[in-house]
Amino acid sequence: MDNVMDITVTVNGTRYQRAVEPRMLLSDFLRHELCLTGTHVGCEHGVCGTCTIVLDGQSVRSCLIFAVQADGHEIVTVEGLGTMENLHPLQEAFREAHGLQCGFCTPGFLMTLVPFLEENENPTEEEIRVAIAGNLCRCTGYQNIVEAVKLAAERMRK
Ligand code: FES
Ligand code: FES
Repeated sequence: MDNVMDITVTVNGTRYQRAVEPRMLLSDFLRHELCLTGTHVGCEHGVCGTCTIVLDGQSVRSCLIFAVQADGHEIVTVEGLGTMENLHPLQEAFREAHGLQCGFCTPGFLMTLVPFLEENENPTEEEIRVAIAGNLCRCTGYQNIVEAVKLAAERMRK
């Protein structure tokens, strides 16, 4: 195929090599090329936060990055967080504190919060609210999400 570039990315610990068009968004690459559909797509212009992933340790919006820009980098998506049998403490806390309803926004919240809690293991409520200010949820009203983050932080400190 004309106009494709070879890229190599590590996603959730697995190395992938693919030939992609330069215009392909990283969010589409993850979903359509790698079938990692846990990364959701809402607005596709950087507003809703639902496509958030962790790239080289930082949370980023995968709809604002081209797949070719991820060449040589390390990505973690929600699929890399926990398993059904062994949930990540954040996932467990979201479940217990009712931090989700439809769940569409949840992967984005989780992938925003993982690096945040790594950097700040004892955040104030205000810091939590600032951390998730770029993630939109149409269901929960945010209160239970904040409670879930507090619960996860407390457990992760132990
Ligand atoms: S889909 Fe990326 S920020 Fe909304
Ligand atoms: S739980 Fe439905 S959008 Fe957040």
